[in-house]
Amino acid sequence: MFMKIGHRGAMGHAPENTLLSFSTALKMKVDMIELDVTLCQSGEAVVIHDDRLERTTDGNGYVKDHNLEDLKRLNAGKGEQIPTLVESLNFINRKVPTNIELKNGAVVPAVIKIVNQLVKEQGWSLDDFLISSFDHHALKAFKTHIPDIRIGVLLGIIPLDYAAMAKHLNAYAINPCIDFINQAFVEDAKMKGLKTFVWTVNYAEDIKRMQLLGVDGIFTNYPDRL
Ligand code: G3P
Ligand code: MG
Repeated sequence: MFMKIGHRGAMGHAPENTLLSFSTALKMKVDMIELDVTLCQSGEAVVIHDDRLERTTDGNGYVKDHNLEDLKRLNAGKGEQIPTLVESLNFINRKVPTNIELKNGAVVPAVIKIVNQLVKEQGWSLDDFLISSFDHHALKAFKTHIPDIRIGVLLGIIPLDYAAMAKHLNAYAINPCIDFINQAFVEDAKMKGLKTFVWTVNYAEDIKRMQLLGVDGIFTNYPDRL
């Protein structure tokens, strides 16, 4: 199955990383929703891509310098609030798995706590999650605490030894940038038993090219184009 992963929900159609974006992605029949998490000053994991507030909200400054109450007053687009990770997961409610992208190592303990709580107390499955990050140390820390969690190793480049670090991390998937993907990379990942999910694939000819390369899925801002 070729996985259609909604990038920050369906950010081509709705304000990224908001509940509106997640509902839009679900309407567009995605197979997974990707969202980005970071830590705010009062300790909650909040869903926002950037370290700072300016690009996606009417606020200013670093997310980590604001408490949740202040963040909730901001407009994240079309009157949407910045959602917490807990709100987002409850909203998606296991209709599809959620790919939680850890934006930094600081958010790891908060996300581990949330995943453990949902799995141990509310009957969620570890397969309801894919945890990814460009911070491979954060992934290692996560995997140490929850060994059976699926992790996706994000790459902005293609390393000389291809997917070796993903194998080392006992990952489920390797998630490279479309700019550098090639056949050798895809074949190496397959040989190592890893799924390959490519970001961010928005155009028909690129979607076709990814399918021909034999990748397992794509992150897209426009899930309706697939
Ligand atoms: O996980 C795929 C993609 O979201 C990684 O990059 O910057 O959009 O979070 P970014
Ligand atoms: Mg992301």
